[in-house]
Amino acid sequence: MESELNILVVHGPNLNLLGMREVGIYGHYSLDDINKKIEKFGKINRLRIDIFHSNIEGEIVNFVHKNRDASGMVINPAAFTHTSIAIRDAIKGVDIATVEVHLSNIHCREEFRKNSYIAPVCIGQISGFGYYSYILGISALLAYLKKE
Ligand code: DQA
Repeated sequence: MESELNILVVHGPNLNLLGMREVGIYGHYSLDDINKKIEKFGKINRLRIDIFHSNIEGEIVNFVHKNRDASGMVINPAAFTHTSIAIRDAIKGVDIATVEVHLSNIHCREEFRKNSYIAPVCIGQISGFGYYSYILGISALLAYLKKE
């Protein structure tokens, strides 16, 4: 039995290369491996989880618009974190409870990664725990939605 909570999980550009891309930073899990872990967590917690990946900024904006009625969203905007006013405005525009997540700790890498255009329109940001950032992000979102 599913709960009434519907959580969107959005993966941004180049995350489809996980498992072969900069493994020293992002680890050996593929995007598929990570999605399976997210789905398993969703099942245990009786959530409806809709996972979406795109390398294209406008497709992420459209996905957010189209799913504006979801309970909340966990997003790894990847490189768009540091560039995208369009994704920021989409999240703000639909007013969806959102947690930003990153596999790596963006605060101890290059200077340009420290700035997020997305974080100011999110409940919070989780960064540096590998695939587990997504699980922490969903957990944090659930606590927020259930007002724990
Ligand atoms: C990332 C960090 C970003 O700076 C980078 O552009 C990514 C992945 C992460 O999950 O650590 O593509 O979002």
